Amino acid sequence: MKSIFAKKKVLIGVTAGIAAYKIHFLIRNLIKKGAEVKVMMTPDAQNFVTPLSLSTLSKNPVITDFYSQDGTWHNHVELALWADVLLIAPCTTNTLAKLANGLSDNFLVATYLSAKCPVMIAPAMDLDMYAHPSTEANLTKLQNYGNRIVPAEEGELASGLVGKGRMAEPETIEAYLEDYFYTSDYHSELKGKKLLITAGPTYEPIDPVRFIGNHSSGKMGFAIAEEASRRGAEVILISGPTALQPIHSKIKRISVKSAKEMMEEVFNYYEEVDVAIMSAAVADYTPKVVADQKIKKNDAEFTIELIKNPDILKTMGEQKTHQLLVGFALETQNEEENAKGKLQRKNLDFIVLNSLQDSGAGFQKDTNKIKIFTKDQEVFDFGLKSKNEVAQDILNLVEEKLKA
Ligand code: C5P
Repeated sequence: MKSIFAKKKVLIGVTAGIAAYKIHFLIRNLIKKGAEVKVMMTPDAQNFVTPLSLSTLSKNPVITDFYSQDGTWHNHVELALWADVLLIAPCTTNTLAKLANGLSDNFLVATYLSAKCPVMIAPAMDLDMYAHPSTEANLTKLQNYGNRIVPAEEGELASGLVGKGRMAEPETIEAYLEDYFYTSDYHSELKGKKLLITAGPTYEPIDPVRFIGNHSSGKMGFAIAEEASRRGAEVILISGPTALQPIHSKIKRISVKSAKEMMEEVFNYYEEVDVAIMSAAVADYTPKVVADQKIKKNDAEFTIELIKNPDILKTMGEQKTHQLLVGFALETQNEEENAKGKLQRKNLDFIVLNSLQDSGAGFQKDTNKIKIFTKDQEVFDFGLKSKNEVAQDILNLVEEKLKA
């Protein structure tokens, strides 16, 4: 599939922060995905990274001043007009203050003032500088000018302190850029729609330290959430325990442990959503009694009595009013009949079957192979793909059904 970055003109402004070294990774990725990248730097930024490394990766000369040594004048207006988007990353406190107040004493800030394209700013500074009211005021000013801020993240800082101020990781910045190009380029039926997505396993408690769980990693549900958010949907992601973090900051993530908790959260939102995609691997059974204290080992055999969990998806099917409802099925035998049976019993619009018999598909993997059965008796068979591409296939069908 053609990348959303193909032929996009990305102008990157690098300022004098240690995080400047991370920009190389972003540039390399953008170039790989077909973007055209030009870089400008503040004079001080050259103390952190070299124009040579940035020009090598971006395949374009890097501008550091209004004039080159040979006396050539660089036209900041022309460069600003060239860009589809201007990203300033890392953006130091000093540059932030200049941008917010219209100072124009270097090439980068002059170009910012001439830019008519959308501007994204990824601040990077020490935690106290980031927390200072003047920084907050400058960020608010820039937001009011219509600039998008890629918020700084928590973590270890160059000073050795730990706190908020680190520049967002290159992949997060890339996700912001991608988001922008998606919403500007592409009309999606999902734009403005509310989506509820479940992901991951559930943990059914036995005692305070033990549970019954499964191998679900949550990767499929998270990939759908990311893709839906990219297409402009408002996403509520209800996830069982997983190490994953959504990249898109707009995704509302709700963490749950047990099927009962998942059920409660799902029904807090179900009524208000347009689409619900239930990719979580919900435990069918849960211990009847949860011990208050850690169960002690002794010589006797030990039996846990299990009772049935509520079937969240089936209940959703029964209470469906306007929502498009999508379920998942993971089968090891009689796959198609079982999936079709669930489609009907749970009153779904379509069901995504992934089989454990396909190598490369299923739990913990980065790839998946799916078949979709719809209530209109359609069957769509897809090849082995990355979970991101599978998410696109599923959402393409959701969009088709919303349009119909
Ligand atoms: O019946 P089965 O568990 O195979 O159905 C799988 C589908 O039903 C998945 O979409 C899963 O998220 C959902 N499910 C549920 N509540 C359960 C069991 C499964 O919502 N208790």
